[in-house]
Amino acid sequence: MKIFICEICGEAYLGTEAPSHCPFCGAHQNFLKLDSVASPLTSKAVELSELSQQNLQTALTLEKTATALYICMAHKSDKPGVTAMYHALAKIEHEHANAMARLLDEPKPVIDSAACADDDEANFKKTLALEDNAVQLYQRFAKEATEREVKIFFAGLWQIEADHAALITNLLQ
Ligand SMILES: [Fe+2]
Ligand SMILES: [Fe+2]
Repeated sequence: MKIFICEICGEAYLGTEAPSHCPFCGAHQNFLKLDSVASPLTSKAVELSELSQQNLQTALTLEKTATALYICMAHKSDKPGVTAMYHALAKIEHEHANAMARLLDEPKPVIDSAACADDDEANFKKTLALEDNAVQLYQRFAKEATEREVKIFFAGLWQIEADHAALITNLLQ
């Protein structure tokens, strides 16, 4: 058994080899490093520009909203697989919110409740819109960041949200 640390969220995965995606934040395998060489982006204080602070706040709000919506959507579906998927997505988005709060040097975010539709199809469409919006925003935030850590962080995150968009696109077909 080895210890792999995710450089995006800082969580440890214990296993024989690195998984394809971080089970906590969804980061791609290239962000999972053996603990002897890992250097998580959120483990040390980063001096943030005003723009990065603003962008991280925008992203934090978005992640908190997504978490609350996915918890709602999990409870609306009568399909166990869809419910489990939304619980998994909610955990991942919550992990993103936690990582953003750490970068901003803020306390752990509190997740409020949110209202969502009663049927899966409407919720899938809403999810796709949220994820597509996150991809666009995080691509821009990665470009705008002047801090190495923030640039890599958003580059890792937009890939994760693009994976979510692809997952939902498949469900809508
Ligand atoms: Fe992670
Ligand atoms: Fe996210």
